[in-house]
Amino acid sequence: MESDEQNDNAVKLRQFFEILNGCFGESSFVKLILGKYRGDEKDLRTIKILLIKIQEQDTLSFVHQYKTKDITKNFPVKDGIETVRGLLGKDFKSAHLFSLTGDVQLEFSKRDRCILNSSRATCSDVPVKIHNREKERMIDQDRAFLTALGITGEDHKVLHSMNRKWKQINVFLEIFQRALLSSQLSKMQNINVVDFGSGKGYLTFAVYDFLRNSQKMDPQVTGVELREELVRLCNDVARELEMGKLHFCQGDLKSYNPGKTHIMIALHACDTATDLAIHMGIRSGAEIIMCAPCCHKELRPQIVVPSALKASLRFGVHLGQEAEMVTDSLRALLLEASGYETQVFEFISLEHTSKNKMILAVKRCDVPEKKEEALSQIKAIKDFYGIREVALEELLKNSIQ
Ligand SMILES: C[S@@+](CC[C@H](N)C(=O)[O-])C[C@H]1O[C@@H](n2cnc3c(N)ncnc32)[C@H](O)[C@@H]1O
Repeated sequence: MESDEQNDNAVKLRQFFEILNGCFGESSFVKLILGKYRGDEKDLRTIKILLIKIQEQDTLSFVHQYKTKDITKNFPVKDGIETVRGLLGKDFKSAHLFSLTGDVQLEFSKRDRCILNSSRATCSDVPVKIHNREKERMIDQDRAFLTALGITGEDHKVLHSMNRKWKQINVFLEIFQRALLSSQLSKMQNINVVDFGSGKGYLTFAVYDFLRNSQKMDPQVTGVELREELVRLCNDVARELEMGKLHFCQGDLKSYNPGKTHIMIALHACDTATDLAIHMGIRSGAEIIMCAPCCHKELRPQIVVPSALKASLRFGVHLGQEAEMVTDSLRALLLEASGYETQVFEFISLEHTSKNKMILAVKRCDVPEKKEEALSQIKAIKDFYGIREVALEELLKNSIQ
């Protein structure tokens, strides 16, 4: 780059940081968004920076927004600004500053020329600065179904015993929303969602409420549950709250026929119930399949420990973890072989629940070559561990071979 351009870039960066510092001086800072990420971290998209208070100290909260999750890191304001200085122009090629006095956008062009623009303020309020880990919520705490299901009390405060569930619902909805937006479904109005093993219906109600009230859709949401008393309880609440297209059916995953389904959810369906649910999702043409498996019992007794792993897998705990990993890897590969882009990740920290792994699959129409690759990877894993039979593979036998 010519040195004139370098000087020009340095001037614009200096101006930008003067404006940014000024915002803190005059308490007009609203938020800063770093975008156009060009760094090495997989799936990182943007960093949203907000000003919050932690123990009375002004703090910059950096929310790293990945494809399917957010990770937050907090810095004292001065350190936060220095962190931005280190990122801007290198990993991130744009910064959009929102303040009460005006918006400023700094961007690097393809040739790394710095462009600085300002415009009228789009925000007229500074967000409340209280640090509240629970604050970025996907549903309002005052929703009546939360009280009816015993998550909140009459005062709409989350009951102490339900804090984890509340956290789980919100994280789940965040992932749900992103999956929805990355699929074709976000353009549709009428979608069918089935939640297998819906239990007390926490997530089923939350999904219905979210689709109707936040996404302005007209969804048909069905919870399928073995236990009659839970089905009755959920249907009573749905009826009482006039949640018209939310229904619960007493039924067994094994024999239930969901008809055309757009989204299939199965959270904590035990052992091979997850496989039944995934199979049902694939068979009914679901665009999105979300499941959090648990109680992986199927493969452990089948594993013939490879000699190189003998020293490690002689410990029962390791063998259990290995069996779990292999089970979910095979599920992910079978989903890929069936035309889904699939991710496996921890969706909530272990402090909230030990059942924290999610398999998220979004249907893609353009993946023919992935099928062969996935099938040969499945074979390689099975051969390596001496696995004879995999429930989901058996269920899918006629559709993907
Ligand atoms: C661990 S609970 C999870 C409930 C809910 N998905 C959640 O995450 O809050 C699993 C539920 O699946 C139900 N279930 C187990 N096997 C089932 C089957 N074959 N068909 C339908 N429901 C089943 C159980 O009765 C139980 O309510």
